[in-house]
Amino acid sequence: MTALDARPQAPAAVLRFPEGFRWGTATAAYQIEGAAAEDGRTPSVWDTFSRTPGKVRNGDTGDIAADHYHRLDEDIALMRRLGVTDYRFSIAWPRVRPTGSGPVNAKGLDFYRRLVDGLLEAGIRPVATLYHWDLPQELEDEGGWTNRDTAYRFAEYAEIMAGAVGDRVATWTTLNEPWCAAFLGYGNGVHAPGRTSDLDALRAAHHLNLAHGLAARALRGALPAESEISLTLNLHAVRPLSAAPEDRDAARRIDAVGNRIFLDPVFHGRLPEDLVRDTAGVTDWSFVADGDLATASVPIDSLGINYYSPSVVAAGSSESPSPWAGAERHVRFEPAPGPRTAMDWPVDADGLYEVLTRLRDELPGVPLVVTENGAAYEDYADPSGNVKDPERVAYLDSHLRAVHRALADGADVRGYFLWSLLDNFEWAFGYSKRFGIVHVDFATQRRTLKDSARWYAEAIARGGLEN
Ligand code: FCB
Repeated sequence: MTALDARPQAPAAVLRFPEGFRWGTATAAYQIEGAAAEDGRTPSVWDTFSRTPGKVRNGDTGDIAADHYHRLDEDIALMRRLGVTDYRFSIAWPRVRPTGSGPVNAKGLDFYRRLVDGLLEAGIRPVATLYHWDLPQELEDEGGWTNRDTAYRFAEYAEIMAGAVGDRVATWTTLNEPWCAAFLGYGNGVHAPGRTSDLDALRAAHHLNLAHGLAARALRGALPAESEISLTLNLHAVRPLSAAPEDRDAARRIDAVGNRIFLDPVFHGRLPEDLVRDTAGVTDWSFVADGDLATASVPIDSLGINYYSPSVVAAGSSESPSPWAGAERHVRFEPAPGPRTAMDWPVDADGLYEVLTRLRDELPGVPLVVTENGAAYEDYADPSGNVKDPERVAYLDSHLRAVHRALADGADVRGYFLWSLLDNFEWAFGYSKRFGIVHVDFATQRRTLKDSARWYAEAIARGGLEN
């Protein structure tokens, strides 16, 4: 009998989550699938970027990653053991529509059909994300997200996927963290495609908003009426260092270019006035065509929030190239206090509470889902094959408590997706950072449950945390 089979009786006091709360895990295609050149997949910007010397730690690539493409059944069985109710995965655009605008690739569609069917058989709800950063390289060669046409290609791809698995996938997310795609991809160049231009970053952000709206509309037309259409943002929990007006203004600037640049177009059909003012030296925003903001704001059914750590800012200046489109000339980032993860990110669950309750106030009526939360630590399998990760357990516990507190205070949070199911390719950090609750030995692809996986399985089984 494994520890998972021997689930404890529910203890007397349980910090219980609502009935029907979705307990999930999350992954992304390029980070786990591997099989980069198999069955008709063509390169994405991340294939190109990871092959460019100096861009990814140790020269790591996603060529093999966690080999999920070949270990689908094993990975679904793992999730079934954990008892997750939902699984959030992303679809590799260049696998299903190679080159981004060419013919559909039946073998690529087959892979996602097998994934979806396997999940359903295991009693796990599939939650599909269409874009988790693996833009087909051919589209990047034509300008990528700085080219308006990319938004239209994205809507076509959304429609293709809705046609292929829309009868079996009830929840669809258009984009994952468009802030990272625009500002790390085109602003400071830390992510693919590695461009460093404030103008390109702002243009990309707008085209991502447009792409979201066009895809949401296409999905609405192609999916059954009860389907859920969503968007996932990594909203920055930004705090001023002090109550001084200059520090508060620094926080306002980061909130504008980090958060409201997406929230305002998507939920209110407008651009933040202060953002337009702050960025006047970079652009007049003439790339925003008539009707774009109305398109970006087509109604959606929920908002996904990815949260890892807060940012503390003060008046000052930061280094360039920066992902802040000029705001860095007025803003200094201060280290937040407290313990840190292996990413050097501060552990601060209050930031998650702050984001959720802010949205409760600003977007009443929009259901919220925590679509990513988790932490990297220096995990290893000990000689008896155990992976002890008490710091991750503490991180997850404190963040789930923050979600619970937000729920108790009226935030409509429907679920929590732990990042991540498996250790994986952590973008520019390659395989050096482990976020999984399942340890992956990348030499053998052997999977081992970490203690945090057992802890999460117990939380799911009892419907909450030990109190
Ligand atoms: C998020 C990404 C996800 C993962 C985590 C650690 O920004 O969406 O793919 O890399 O960070």
